Amino acid sequence: MYKIAFLPGDGIGIEVGNSAIKVAKVVAEHFNTELLITEKLIGGCSYDEFGTPLTDETLQACYDSDAVFFGAVGGTKWETLPHHLKPEAALLKLRKALGLFANIRPAKIYKPLIDSSSLKEEILEDVDFIVLRELTGGIYFGEPRGYDDEKGFNTMIYKKEEVKRIAKVAFQLALERNKKVVSVDKANVLEVSQFWRNVVINVHKNFEDVKLTHMYVDNAAMQIVRNPKQFDVVLTSNLFGDILSDIAGMITGSLGMLPSASLGTKYSLYEPVHGSAPDIAGKNIANPLASISSVAMMFNYSFQMKKASELIETAINKTLSEGYRTKDIFSDGCKLVSTTEMTEIVIKKFKEVFHEQGLGVFTL
Ligand code: IPM
Ligand code: MN
Repeated sequence: MYKIAFLPGDGIGIEVGNSAIKVAKVVAEHFNTELLITEKLIGGCSYDEFGTPLTDETLQACYDSDAVFFGAVGGTKWETLPHHLKPEAALLKLRKALGLFANIRPAKIYKPLIDSSSLKEEILEDVDFIVLRELTGGIYFGEPRGYDDEKGFNTMIYKKEEVKRIAKVAFQLALERNKKVVSVDKANVLEVSQFWRNVVINVHKNFEDVKLTHMYVDNAAMQIVRNPKQFDVVLTSNLFGDILSDIAGMITGSLGMLPSASLGTKYSLYEPVHGSAPDIAGKNIANPLASISSVAMMFNYSFQMKKASELIETAINKTLSEGYRTKDIFSDGCKLVSTTEMTEIVIKKFKEVFHEQGLGVFTL
């Protein structure tokens, strides 16, 4: 049995989060696994109810879980709140409290969606890389920070241990992939980046089978759009990773397709990369696939159920290749479906591939 803390949050987080949990339950059932799901408020809705975007109760549910499933937070309604009360503050606090230092954001192409990208097909074919973003350090958390009438300031700081552990994860991931790591920094300008680079080079000494190169972040942003095929694992800091993962997301067609996993030594959190999209919230038109794909990552990384994870991805691919599209990825000749319809179709495809593979006869 696995315990999931389910934090749908705000906006479309609620819709796509519920889609994800629905899929997770069906998948677990097929693999004779029980999921215990505890749902809690987070973000703007938590602020409205309790005056804080993250309550101790929600945090405790996360500490008690085997995995956290997170939808999205934020919305225009809460934009003018002070920093520490903004919905986004809850997510940052959660990442820190749970020690989720390694954020994996895969950028892979779903073949049936290749024409919904703004890039040409030949540039995109076989693109498959991950952005590995350091998630609990750097300028997001550095002190001192603040602003007054005359100035605003933040501190970009990395300690050796923080760089070492994320670099290790990068090389370990690369060993299971194409054995290439590009470490992205701004070492031509920032001391913190020169330090980052030095530490990464040191950690690399224990991973000689992996090819390590370095790239400045401005160049990396350009290269991701120019020739994304060159990348395997992109290792980078918190702020640079935030930006690069959005770029990487867009080349694949829609941010609505991108899943993510945030891992630490004890806890894990899964969430779609996209935000709460207040403009389309509550309309049942949001794309649930990033969330469903995040469920696949959860089965893989937190439950060590690789097969289940693969079947979810196969189901997503089948759904797309049969032409089902939510509005954000719609193109002529395709079948326009709602959030809930898309979810049901993925579930149906999952059941099909599960039985096609003869898995129904085994108890795993
Ligand atoms: C992300 C988001 C968050 C971040 C915000 C919502 C705090 O943009 O997960 O990429 O900047 O990390
Ligand atoms: Mn972001």
